[in-house]
Amino acid sequence: MTKYIINGSNPLHGEVEISGGKNAAVAIIPAALMVDGVCRIENLPQISDVTTFLNILKQMGASIKMVNKRTVDIDCSNVGTTQATFGLMRRIRASYYLIGALLARFGSADVAMPGGCNFGSVRPIDQHVKGFTALGATISVSNGILNAEAANGKLRGASIFLDVVSVGATINVMLGATLAEGNTVIENAAREPHIVDLANFLNSMGADIRGAGTNVIKIRGVERLKGGFYSIIPDQIEAGTYMAAVAGAGGRVVIKDVIPKHLECIYGKLREMGVTILELEDSIVVQRMNPLIRTHIKTMPYPGFPTDMQPQLSAILSLAEGTSTVTEGVWDNRFGYVDELCKMGANIRVIGRTAIIEGTQYLTGAPLVAGDLRAGAALVIAALCAKGQSEIEGVSYIERGYEKMINKLSALGADIKTAYMPEEASFSAREVV
Ligand code: EPU
Repeated sequence: MTKYIINGSNPLHGEVEISGGKNAAVAIIPAALMVDGVCRIENLPQISDVTTFLNILKQMGASIKMVNKRTVDIDCSNVGTTQATFGLMRRIRASYYLIGALLARFGSADVAMPGGCNFGSVRPIDQHVKGFTALGATISVSNGILNAEAANGKLRGASIFLDVVSVGATINVMLGATLAEGNTVIENAAREPHIVDLANFLNSMGADIRGAGTNVIKIRGVERLKGGFYSIIPDQIEAGTYMAAVAGAGGRVVIKDVIPKHLECIYGKLREMGVTILELEDSIVVQRMNPLIRTHIKTMPYPGFPTDMQPQLSAILSLAEGTSTVTEGVWDNRFGYVDELCKMGANIRVIGRTAIIEGTQYLTGAPLVAGDLRAGAALVIAALCAKGQSEIEGVSYIERGYEKMINKLSALGADIKTAYMPEEASFSAREVV
């Protein structure tokens, strides 16, 4: 087991390069299953979710060749199975994109119910099922395995109105509809940048998808997709996380290789908190010299403030002057990290879906456990801001979605390192006992 050891209170200075988007990568990799020939995917983030997904495809018979650390050639011509390997499938949430991709290619899919981050009392997939059913598939679940069968072996285009704005359902229906017979319209579609990225990937391989990035997506089914090249967009949540780290710890950092438009809702809030933000063509300069000012945040689907930045902003608002509120508008429960911040001296109460944060002058280092990916990022940020030493366990969550976070933060002047520990020495193991 690994933990991070962080000595806080060092301001951050320098430059950090942002990697390719996690949530774009985990949609594009399974989409490669639908392509005849080799897909070259560039700007892949080096994170464990990507490695897991590539291994799932490999176990299904795909040829996976790393051209370099960030570029992979995927050829799924030899995949003959409609079943995905259950052990690896349970490790990542996005494994459910295999349902759309397998249904599109084979008209049939047997996929383990998804795993992933540990928040929300339920993470339903009823909107995915609604979409596949409208496209003519029959869905059943038994023993943890979801079986989907298209009538006569082929999905048919349909009009689908999603009852909730769902990133996953929008992506899954887009995948299924791409090779379906006829036209599909998805209304009340999610608009996140990774949805546009997936549409651009599929279109570059021969699909006919229009409207991605708006709430109505129109897909004309095509017979086949052909191989090609594609480069994944930068990860706006990774960029936002480093912006929050500088806002909390202080200093001045150039955040490079980003699409500033995707970050507007994040830096709008940081500006309200007194952080100086300079937007350049493909980078953002973040500087924080003065005390942070309180603000109010409500998370919403894109282009609203992203739920995936909620824990990181709560961490730094715990150091802002005055009382802030953070309301979670996407998930029913995403405040599991609050108890950990309170161990550091933060003053946060959660009432329903809202955290009320009374700013405190300083946080102190503490032994901490990350319960999910973004909670882990929030604890790292809090530890960077705190007086003294923190030890963070549960870092495998962080490594699912952040490439080389230790190296990137160390290069900015943070005092952060990894330590290995025997399992019985872990705080989380002790708590269970
Ligand atoms: N929902 C339903 N029914 C469904 C699907 C979703 O009611 O069939 C509800 C969910 O319970 C939730 C809301 O709709 O309340 C939004 O869920 P969505 O489907 O948009 O989430 P997701 O696709 O499972 C993706 C990201 C998450 C991110 C959310 C929201 C991936 C792999 N995951 O999840 O990212 O929080 O969208 O933006 O793209 C993360 O990166 O840390 C992460 C958790």
